[in-house]
Amino acid sequence: MALTFAIIKPDAVEARLTGRILARIEQEGFTVRGMRLQHLTKREAEGFYAVHSARPFFGSLTDFMSSGPCVLLALEAEGAIAKWRTLMGATDPAKAEAGTLRKEFGQSIDKNATHGSDAPETAAFELGYFFRGLELL
Ligand code: CMP
Repeated sequence: MALTFAIIKPDAVEARLTGRILARIEQEGFTVRGMRLQHLTKREAEGFYAVHSARPFFGSLTDFMSSGPCVLLALEAEGAIAKWRTLMGATDPAKAEAGTLRKEFGQSIDKNATHGSDAPETAAFELGYFFRGLELL
């Protein structure tokens, strides 16, 4: 069993989609091992997305991610990282496949409803950034 890190982003929380997204997560066979509602500061968002700091969208991304509360999640499943990325769909909702979370709930490449780690090293960093070991049950 593997763990991945996921976020229900501020756009989806504001649109009251948290419950529907969590229902999909459980229906698809993930076990929630950690979960917290948190309004990130700009600095926290910048630290989390440091890998994107040279990208032109870094400022708007971190503004958006610190614009309201989001749900931070540690999800467990076999092949959790790939499985969660498949359930989310493509980064740009316009390009995401039918039935994926971003297709169903995303509005734009920025307001794309969910985030997920893209590799084991990123998952380890992202889980550790937001969860202490004691918080993973
Ligand atoms: P996420 O999976 O959270 O990782 C970085 C985020 O940057 C991504 O989802 C998008 O919401 C956002 N983003 C904005 N513009 C772009 C872009 N041109 N390419 C990739 N990601 C982008």
